[in-house]
Amino acid sequence: MQSEPNDRIEAPLPEQLEGLTDLDPEAFRAALHAVADAMADYAARIEGYPVFPPIQPGRLTGLFPAQPPTGPASLAAILDDYRTLIEPNATHWAHPGFMAYFATPGAAAGVFGEMLMASLGQNTMLWRTSPIGTELESVVVGWLRDGLGLPADFDGFINDTASTSSLIALAGARDAAGYRSATDGLFGNPEPGRPRVYASVEAHSSIEKACMTLGLGRSGLSKIPTDDAYRMRPEALEAAIQADLAAGVRPIAIVATIGTTSSTSIDPVPAIADIAAAHGLWLHVDAAYGGAVALIPERRGPFAGWERADSIVVNPHKWLFSPLDASLLLTRRMPALRDAFSLVPEYLRTLDRTGAGRDIHEYTPVLGRRFRALKLWVMLRWFGLEGYRRRIEHHLGMAGAFAARVDADPDFERLAPVPFSVVCLRYRPRQLAGREDEPAIAARLDELNARLIDAVNQTGEIFLSHTRLAGRFTIRVALGHLRGEERHAERAWELLRREAAVVGEQGGALGSDVAPADAAAAARD
Ligand SMILES: Cc1ncc(COP(=O)(O)O)c(C=O)c1O
Repeated sequence: MQSEPNDRIEAPLPEQLEGLTDLDPEAFRAALHAVADAMADYAARIEGYPVFPPIQPGRLTGLFPAQPPTGPASLAAILDDYRTLIEPNATHWAHPGFMAYFATPGAAAGVFGEMLMASLGQNTMLWRTSPIGTELESVVVGWLRDGLGLPADFDGFINDTASTSSLIALAGARDAAGYRSATDGLFGNPEPGRPRVYASVEAHSSIEKACMTLGLGRSGLSKIPTDDAYRMRPEALEAAIQADLAAGVRPIAIVATIGTTSSTSIDPVPAIADIAAAHGLWLHVDAAYGGAVALIPERRGPFAGWERADSIVVNPHKWLFSPLDASLLLTRRMPALRDAFSLVPEYLRTLDRTGAGRDIHEYTPVLGRRFRALKLWVMLRWFGLEGYRRRIEHHLGMAGAFAARVDADPDFERLAPVPFSVVCLRYRPRQLAGREDEPAIAARLDELNARLIDAVNQTGEIFLSHTRLAGRFTIRVALGHLRGEERHAERAWELLRREAAVVGEQGGALGSDVAPADAAAAARD
């Protein structure tokens, strides 16, 4: 049921017209109800929207006046424009047909948390600027650490994104390796040699960006080859480290990924941790997406060895359903992070400190911080660990069933194992089976699959993204969405098959330049 217009929001309020401060509490209450109605209406409408809006880049800017508004508008007018200009032109991450990237579905409880965060208006930079923000953050970090089955000596804090969490971890690694970059910059310390970080070729680009940002440069990241299941090869890692040592390069950190972005592959962390220990290197584990599964004790197999890490990142804004943003950074090396980032000018010094409070800004490159722990506290209480486990199990089950459908279809090919909730596949018409490596066929398959994903996305019912695995254009079906039900996965599969038939038919699955398999076989005979 859609909400009725509320006459208390129909015209600009006296506070807007003449006031010098903000809304009085009762007007605020009425306005909040109207905003809440808009949010609930969206939830009711969402499946009616195409997941990705059918618009071209640059077409939206012109919907808005070029000049800023001079006078106030009523909330009703603002919400009307929100409904007509904003909402329909969004990519609907909360839509259960959103199966691209990794879902950030924005659970209702997370939305409650966001609203409370905004109204409480905390800045958690210092203990004193938010005692509850600072201390609840350690409580929530402890809850998540324990829930994930990690040892109690992991401490940590909550950042906006995994990109920031990994940047902070690698800054700690850089300084822990003796670079003293926080004081001298990279160039102040030439003795230790050029620093290098190691991660697999499948590691997320945020690791390379961290190297760019930290002054290591992109060449400061050594990309280690993977095996046929896209897992880092430990012997190649060891060889790369040895070669660097021989060349006077200074290894400082290894990043292992549990749940890579393209295929959700799992690096062999125990072997990588052995190598890190043997060379005294910082081990950072990127479990931004996959980490959620460790909430299920029976499913901790893929996480073996991560308890040996110096730092770990898990993103609640991925598979723990938090609205953007929330990224948990766990570390047993808090002092190293502080060495990398602490700078306390007089105006941030707390004179009346009893010594107990932690000032989290000292561990990060940012000062102002949102009270993200409040949102996570609301969500953890709302779902409980059991509620999370049930939902994650449901997604794992859906992904397994989806993979089985792909495996059973002679016109599709699964391109990676499915350890978590993403299925990597491509359309490979059966006539082309066995010929995938022929360059003309490989190019044709890439083209067909690019057209297929476009056709499926144009239906508006689901939204998929792609990657490349072993050079092949790969469609990813990401099923870890809070609102995703079996019927959505079934529909995704129906659409993939339906559009594949169309795409195959239209272009000629084989293409005019490619001989059909039997003709090629005949030619060979
Ligand atoms: C494995 C992995 N690490 C890091 C990131 C970066 O996450 P964020 O957007 O929070 O920086 C992603 C994003 O998808 C990811 O898949």
